[in-house]
Amino acid sequence: MIPKVRKAVFPAAGLGTRFLPATKAMPKEMLPLVDKPLIQYGVEEAIHSGMNNIIIVTGRGKSAIEDHFDVSFELEQMLEARQKKDLLASVRSVSDLIDVFYVRQKEALGLGHAVLRAKEMVANEAFSVVLSDDVIDAEIPCLRQLHDIYEFYGCSVLALMEVPPENISAYGVVDAEPVAHNGGSGRLYRIRNMVEKPNAADAPSNLAIIGRYILTPEIFHSVESIEPGRGGEIQLTDALKHLLRTRPVYGYKFEGTRYDAGDKLGFLKATVEFAMKRHDLGEPFREYLRSIQI
Ligand code: UTP
Repeated sequence: MIPKVRKAVFPAAGLGTRFLPATKAMPKEMLPLVDKPLIQYGVEEAIHSGMNNIIIVTGRGKSAIEDHFDVSFELEQMLEARQKKDLLASVRSVSDLIDVFYVRQKEALGLGHAVLRAKEMVANEAFSVVLSDDVIDAEIPCLRQLHDIYEFYGCSVLALMEVPPENISAYGVVDAEPVAHNGGSGRLYRIRNMVEKPNAADAPSNLAIIGRYILTPEIFHSVESIEPGRGGEIQLTDALKHLLRTRPVYGYKFEGTRYDAGDKLGFLKATVEFAMKRHDLGEPFREYLRSIQI
């Protein structure tokens, strides 16, 4: 039987240049979507997918992430004294549920390099990778959808999304053939090749890789085997291409909506959508939106 995936790796050591100047002193992963930092959405998704073992790859200036998942005695005492039960519960729910481990990436040498930093903590088991600026709104958590495929095939699985040609050059794009699965929902692919950020004319398909992965531990050897690629960085896509030489890799067109919250416009869209869905804020926010003239 294929063992369940228990560990989720959160690379969070990037520089966040697309969101400057907000990210000059504050990690991108701590930008709040309504009232929770981006990384918390990802952590909750991992927990709801059965992955309670959280490994965050941090860099310089990222201590706010560690503080966020730590216990804040003074704050809890103050909320308790003032009988703010709901707020106390929301603060505790962050630190209570999970074990968080941290590992440092001293220099932002690329996503592949960041994942490699987690090698010792992950050890010899399959794990997930979550890029927390990709926020996903889905009935079944995206990681769980990937995990269902992983449990069946025991191979690495990447989350895929259809992207229009004018935006395709911002993504890693796969060349893949559809695979019938569970009576065939048309969502599963076996990946033949992948290209990082191709021009629309050279893109092998309209299927882009987004920030959720389940990876088997052989990926570490692949990361160690490759040279720096695009932008002089150790790219995860290059390591996946290396892995493809010896192992099957699957892609799954997940059900749900993904927001690129590491980008200013994507972040604004996510904020509006998430605020409208909130039971406490949705109605007054909608009312406000109706009242402004667009
Ligand atoms: P991005 O491509 O979004 O890069 O990284 P970035 O530096 O965070 O942001 P921009 O593009 O400059 O605005 C994807 C994910 O990989 C992590 C980032 O923290 C982000 O979660 N990452 C990237 C690392 O942990 N280390 C790296 O060296 C590069």
